[in-house]
Amino acid sequence: MDKIIFATGNEHKMIEIRAILSDLGVEILSQKEAGIKADVIEDGMTFEENAMIKATEIAKIAHEMPEYAHAVVLADDSGLEIDYLGGEPGIYSARYMGEDTSYRIKNANLIGRLDGVPKEERTARFVCAIAAVIPGDEPEEFVVRGIIEGYIGWEEKGTNGFGYDPIFYVEEYGCSTAELDSVTKNQISHRGNALRMMKERLDGIL
Ligand code: IMP
Repeated sequence: MDKIIFATGNEHKMIEIRAILSDLGVEILSQKEAGIKADVIEDGMTFEENAMIKATEIAKIAHEMPEYAHAVVLADDSGLEIDYLGGEPGIYSARYMGEDTSYRIKNANLIGRLDGVPKEERTARFVCAIAAVIPGDEPEEFVVRGIIEGYIGWEEKGTNGFGYDPIFYVEEYGCSTAELDSVTKNQISHRGNALRMMKERLDGIL
């Protein structure tokens, strides 16, 4: 393996991915940098299934290209699970209330749905699954899952991060993940944890 292709066009994710996986000493490209265009339908029922659907589809294309025939292909899927809401918005986190609806509205809606719910029942977690497709004589496929536990607060706080960060509070830090600087968030986040797990697995394979 000489290259890793990460199936995302999100530059913010790529910065975090490069920071954590760079120790592997392998070139890391985004799907876009590899020149791969694909509209993958994520119709799985779990984060793991969706990550694997994406990785498999992109790998099919990449491994047909001579320069990426031996590349490892990674893809992720992430979201927020709120226990009181039976795990909503879950795998529908990006699509919750419509893809184009602002997070101000989505976050206010979720806080509203937890009206009167005591702290101990407001538990939630961010989940990130990362799937790997590894070509070769003995091809391999696997998925890792990283999480961060927290709870849904009573108001939006903080301007860092994105998405549901302003309503997701971490007990240990006593603030929302939108109030953490990016270095601290990456150290404890679902994506950071999943990326570190993936790095260990790939380290054992390379
Ligand atoms: P995707 O994995 O990029 O499709 O992300 C799914 C959705 O989950 C995002 O659009 C956000 O709504 C939510 N999400 C995932 N990770 C985070 C995070 O770190 N902070 C806030 N929201 C997140």
